Amino acid sequence: MVSKRAWVSAFGDETPYEKWQKTEGIPSLHGFYVEDLTTVPMAPWPRKGGKGSFINLEGSEHHIDGYMHEIPPGKASEVEKHMFDELIFVMKGRGATTVWLEGGKKQTFEWQVGSEFTIPMNSWHQHFNGQGDKPVLHFGATTAPLVMNYFHDTDFVFNSGYMFHSRYQSEEDFFSGKGKLHPGRVWETNLINDVYNFKLHEWKERGAGGVNVMFEFSNSTLGGHISEFPVGTYKKGHVHGPGAQIILLSGHGYSLLWPREGGEMKKVPWKKNSMFVPPNNYFHQHFNAGLEPARYLVFSARSFRHGILNFRVYRNMGPDSDIREGGMQVEYEDESPEIRKIFEAELAKEGLPRRKSFSLPLLGH
Ligand SMILES: [Fe+2]
Repeated sequence: MVSKRAWVSAFGDETPYEKWQKTEGIPSLHGFYVEDLTTVPMAPWPRKGGKGSFINLEGSEHHIDGYMHEIPPGKASEVEKHMFDELIFVMKGRGATTVWLEGGKKQTFEWQVGSEFTIPMNSWHQHFNGQGDKPVLHFGATTAPLVMNYFHDTDFVFNSGYMFHSRYQSEEDFFSGKGKLHPGRVWETNLINDVYNFKLHEWKERGAGGVNVMFEFSNSTLGGHISEFPVGTYKKGHVHGPGAQIILLSGHGYSLLWPREGGEMKKVPWKKNSMFVPPNNYFHQHFNAGLEPARYLVFSARSFRHGILNFRVYRNMGPDSDIREGGMQVEYEDESPEIRKIFEAELAKEGLPRRKSFSLPLLGH
């Protein structure tokens, strides 16, 4: 039998995506979480212009990645196109993006802090910083690892002439910010003006009096959602596939993560601009231990129409169905008493009252 060591010495242990990353000349952050995305180390990024850093957290498991990209005051990014899907979230500044297909009409739309938008596959695009005195900071989520590892040919990924007319035809209202609400709290659009203030809808099943909206971007494999839950509450533990890039928009608290098959429980503290990615088949549970509602934004490869990771359980039961019935969620009455103890100790640290039950208002309020 060939040992792992022999394989590594013969072929190396880097994926095509990892090899490509090294040629980009910017840092790549690993680990379980990032405390504050707006302060990660960045380096000049010649391909995109400005500065950048890859964010490859452990739970992404080689199918989705993140990056930070800074565009200096008054400057524009380099023009680019690529054969992977991309969602962009504006964390600082304001400006505009121009998108077009080879030989086609150019479309420009504006954005500011809190905006999120999609880049149609292999369309040309360029970002402009609209302020002369402040940088723009974007977080991007892409399917680059999946595509790079599959095709392992960067020339194909960045220089293909194919135009996906089935996804984008320079439609007048493509980036108008208009949207459509579908059943199941799903908002379909290509541009969200402000995720911080976006209207959310009741989501009883995940507990904690939480509210939520799911996002569907036209013809992208990437989707996501926003969830928010009140002070003094925590959500139900649940488990699913890898790659959900979670960024905190507000609040202060922590999440617990532990492998389904048993093993060490990790505690990830978070606040605004923290990021973490629950790994495949890890239970995870979110706890609001602060004084304001906790709101978070998620990017994942789980578009409802084209998702890469749409497991049958999502289709048939949904991720908020009881694990005892074949679903993916642990009901409050079935969780380990340790979970509640840790939470009460965290609330006590902050001097916060606890709830008798998560369907009741805070004690003392
Ligand atoms: Fe989750």
